[in-house]
Amino acid sequence: MTRVFSGIQPTGEQHLGNFLGATRNWARRQHETDAFFCVVDLHALTIKLPDGEVRDGSLRLAQMLMAVGLDPEVCTLFVQSHVREHAELAWLMQCNVSFGELSRMTQFKDKSDQHAFVSAGLFTYPALQAADILLYDTNEVPVGDDQRQHIEITRDIADRFNSHYGETFVLPEAVIPETGARVMDLQNPGNKMSKSSESPKGTIGLLDDPKQIEKKIKSAVTDTDGEVRFDFAQKPGVSNLLSILGAATDRDPASLAVDYAQYGPLKADTAAAVIELIEPIQARYRELESDPAETARLLAMGADKAREIAAATMDRARTNVGLLID
Ligand code: TYM
Repeated sequence: MTRVFSGIQPTGEQHLGNFLGATRNWARRQHETDAFFCVVDLHALTIKLPDGEVRDGSLRLAQMLMAVGLDPEVCTLFVQSHVREHAELAWLMQCNVSFGELSRMTQFKDKSDQHAFVSAGLFTYPALQAADILLYDTNEVPVGDDQRQHIEITRDIADRFNSHYGETFVLPEAVIPETGARVMDLQNPGNKMSKSSESPKGTIGLLDDPKQIEKKIKSAVTDTDGEVRFDFAQKPGVSNLLSILGAATDRDPASLAVDYAQYGPLKADTAAAVIELIEPIQARYRELESDPAETARLLAMGADKAREIAAATMDRARTNVGLLID
């Protein structure tokens, strides 16, 4: 059976980009694959956050992932730091990736510009991500478009390791959705929607109330020519709305454009479609939120399942790389 793995950081609130680009597809794929989904708390430590945020955020994110539709009885849902092999394999990955390769990662360039303290962990972040993926003999990694480069470097590291030390890792493929892979900021459609966005008006949180969502979409930046056309280069704001509407209704954004002569109705329909999609998630989240002990139990169950596979891969890697086995 196809093995699927993906991860998500427990920082900030989840937004429409995470959902349309990644987690919605995780929920869809869990039934037909052997799927592992991971709250990557160690990755969140690469940037200094307020005390308690990673701990609380991990629990809340796990609840949100279940609200989105991940069923811990169907897939393996767990927290990265609960499976120690992630940090251990990350070291072997760091020793098999070059300084030059890490220096070319666009995410490092973007993030290091935003922070005064640039940790070594932020620089070696892709090595930990490669460890996450390779530990599970992963075939497919469902992600949004911004993770493309990370999956590429994972393949490069795996390939190098295999040719150097013998067949150890499976080479994974990125699986990126046709629509929703790159949801843009509603106020700055040249930037992707993100948790760290300076404009909260540009980001739709999965916990925003319907009135807020409507307001944000209605005040989304468009342009002055008034024509509804799917053309990201010339009309990024309008194309972003068409993409969101297309992803929310499972329709092709370019063909949706012909239904609209003006921006007003496009915005109204986009808002309605997003609200319809998000409201049931919010209701499920509110239920799950009231029972953190049950969430912790489910995560412990997930970690037990994950550890079994991770330990076997780690043993193989330790042997092949040439360590004295204890
Ligand atoms: P993270 O936490 O930033 O994002 C989680 C997922 O959401 C997708 N995403 C988006 N998709 C479309 N439009 C957007 N505006 C948008 N913003 C975010 C991301 O592409 C991602 O799929 N490095 C990863 C976490 C990670 C990981 C892994 C992923 C760690 N280990 C192993 C896959 C496999 C990250 O920071 O994702």
